[in-house]
Amino acid sequence: MNSLLQNINIEMLVIESINPLREQLASWKRSGQSIALVPTMGNLHVGHLSLVKKAKTVADRVVVTIFVNPTQFVAGEDFSSYPRTLEQDHAKLAGTGIDILFHPATAEIYPANTEQQTTVTVPSLDNIFCGKFRPGHFAGVATVVTKLFNIVQPDTAVFGKKDYQQLLVIRQLVRDLCMPIKIIGLPAVRESDGLAMSSRNGYLTSTERKIAPILFQILSGVREEIISGNTEYAGIEQRAWGELGKEGFAVEYLAVRDAENLGEAGAGDLVVLAAVRLGKARLIDNVVIRR
Ligand code: PAJ
Repeated sequence: MNSLLQNINIEMLVIESINPLREQLASWKRSGQSIALVPTMGNLHVGHLSLVKKAKTVADRVVVTIFVNPTQFVAGEDFSSYPRTLEQDHAKLAGTGIDILFHPATAEIYPANTEQQTTVTVPSLDNIFCGKFRPGHFAGVATVVTKLFNIVQPDTAVFGKKDYQQLLVIRQLVRDLCMPIKIIGLPAVRESDGLAMSSRNGYLTSTERKIAPILFQILSGVREEIISGNTEYAGIEQRAWGELGKEGFAVEYLAVRDAENLGEAGAGDLVVLAAVRLGKARLIDNVVIRR
């Protein structure tokens, strides 16, 4: 990082359109500065801010995007009620030293009828786990992330491992479409009781909020069991599934899989993935087992 830049307290620019964003980025790129991107849907919490902090350490300039992407919400999901808290998000980002907050309107990202547009799909990951329960969700994610990558053309982009399948989708689309972007995945930031931070935790009632951390406890138990040598994954999954049910979670899936591609568990690193419903909230979490 240019030491002069470090000493000047440059204000964060808030940009809502693609053209001025590109102009600003082009001037930085011309002078050899690197760019990191942190895509979000806003309602920022400490988990998001951990990505921002990392981005600051890997590039000269950091762009954070806040865009509640309509195409990744399935019919009947919470698109209209998803928390939009731009003012608070702005205040949280102002203290982080990022350079640009990009906050486009829907028409800026999807100028025509969204159904008529080019979409990006990652077939091997599209229809399993979260993709199975949220059909079309990952095509929406892959499409918007591709658009954001094309708009910003960052050197690096930072994502959370909390959305584990999403991270794999993004890693694969970057590989398959030959994008020269380094993808960094960071561990989930958790509340003190273990619950992974999420914008959707706000949907939990106070009773549900007390139950919610049990999801991570059960996943951690599965992790311990596997580390201690149990390889009967089907049995482990079934038991954990039953425990979750007893605690009041409606389980969508819980599975032990290969950590690289979500294929059958083998000798490589493993991930235990789960999605559950608790009242109005849908919670996802995972634990990784390195071997
Ligand atoms: P959003 O849910 O806002 O998350 C933005 C980024 O923050 C994602 O990379 C997500 O994995 C990460 N994140 C969320 N909770 C986290 C936690 N507790 N700890 C660490 N990182 C966390 O994910 C999306 O938005 C969208 O799908 C997006 C990629 C922006 C495309 O629209």
